Amino acid sequence: MASPTPQARLATTVPRSVTAVDQPVASDQLDDLGPDLARSARLAGFEGKVGQTMVVPGPANEPIRILVGIGPADELSVGVLRRAAAAAARQVTRHQAVATTLAEEVGAVDGAAAIAAVVEGYRLAAYRYEEFKTHPDVALRRVTVIARGRGMRAALDRANGIVDGAVFARDLASAPGGTLLPAVFADRLVEMASEQGLEAEVWELDRLEAEKFGGVLAVNRGSTNPPRFVILRYRPEGKPTGDLAFVGKGITFDAGGLSIKTAAGMMTMKIDMGGAAAVAGAMAALRPGGCRAAVTAYIPMTDNMLGGDATRPGDVFTARNGKTVEVLNTDAEGRLILADALSYAVEQQHDLIVDIATLTGSASAALGTGMAALMGRDEELLASVEASAASTGEKVWRLPLPSEYRKQLDSVVADMKNIGNGPYGGALIAGLFLAEFAGDGPWAHIDLGLSAIADGDDGVIVKGATGFGARLLTDLALNWRA
Ligand code: BES
Ligand code: MN
Ligand code: MN
Repeated sequence: MASPTPQARLATTVPRSVTAVDQPVASDQLDDLGPDLARSARLAGFEGKVGQTMVVPGPANEPIRILVGIGPADELSVGVLRRAAAAAARQVTRHQAVATTLAEEVGAVDGAAAIAAVVEGYRLAAYRYEEFKTHPDVALRRVTVIARGRGMRAALDRANGIVDGAVFARDLASAPGGTLLPAVFADRLVEMASEQGLEAEVWELDRLEAEKFGGVLAVNRGSTNPPRFVILRYRPEGKPTGDLAFVGKGITFDAGGLSIKTAAGMMTMKIDMGGAAAVAGAMAALRPGGCRAAVTAYIPMTDNMLGGDATRPGDVFTARNGKTVEVLNTDAEGRLILADALSYAVEQQHDLIVDIATLTGSASAALGTGMAALMGRDEELLASVEASAASTGEKVWRLPLPSEYRKQLDSVVADMKNIGNGPYGGALIAGLFLAEFAGDGPWAHIDLGLSAIADGDDGVIVKGATGFGARLLTDLALNWRA
């Protein structure tokens, strides 16, 4: 079953076919509803706060009205509109076709930005992964955005493209680990690339050996499923405004290897390609978004299993850049495949590299599950990532890369080991490990931790794979010195 996420389209008036229309209500303008409805709303607990909704039934043959809180009128923002639209969507998932007026009254928010926020809110909150459902949970198929003015059609197409990318990321990351094997994952990306006019290159086992991808091979050693390395290239029409590289961790399932995870720890580990999914989602959105920079994606893929010849704690491998690594914990595997991918990306001499990975539980121990950790040493790039995080609502918070911790990675037998000395600061240690492979140019590292998977609904997030990072990376590419 294809993803049921509703498509958004544009109109200047509410179509007859819809069965529900939303109506924004500012918390300081509740009385504009008229005395009767304002009274009913107050008695029902509806105060116009962001996230609040209230159904107002109407006569037969007319759409019902959904009051949607947008908070104080003078505090309206893209983030508020996105959350309000998400709340409205949750109220109407049983309807097939609805209309939204949330992008009509935009106050200080730019019209195109308002359309984007509303499309994101509605479509992402109504998203369900229904590949294996015999009966769909959500009926919603069509959201008509009411708006007028120049440029609105282009804004809607762009917004749909960006949401399609995020949906692609969610679909990939929702797929079971036994289904989305590296070969399958690679095929999906090749298919997307041909639809989007991207160049795709897929390396299989022999090429990975020839190219000395020792980290990918070390992790793959315990698996019966061959690894892949996928390169996707987006080239804009005309002279590119920049040359970006995205690197995504593509562990299609993380059992921990011989340093095996607990049963509970393994339960969510199909999500361990969430970074790769985010990169793939962003790549899918670049053409629709009108990206003017060149962007290349590097995606190493393998599962992390426990087969008879799996990497043993204490084993040593040589990474792509020639550094030797002692693997003392096979569950710290993401950094091993990223080491090769980063080394290779550095060789290709891009303007900047951003990697994104479900790298450590430690990132979420520090920041909780609602935001990702950001590391790096290039102020301009970090500030750009933060700006994209702020405008997309995919939040990041900086963690340091303390050089005085680097000695924790010293190994007795190799150039470095793959874990630190104790249980603390794991996200920082992982970042310091990656830094050894990320070259001297601008590099940023996004550790998703558990933000790649949600245990409940919140704004545009629905329980399950979040696609976190797809919209952030898209925004970064679209705005890079554009
Ligand atoms: N994929 C995990 C990190 C993870 C755990 C992401 C839970 C999202 C949710 C990673 O490969 C891992 O196992 N990391 C270990 C590293 C440790 C062995 C140094 C961790 O964070 O515990
Ligand atoms: Mn692991
Ligand atoms: Mn992992």
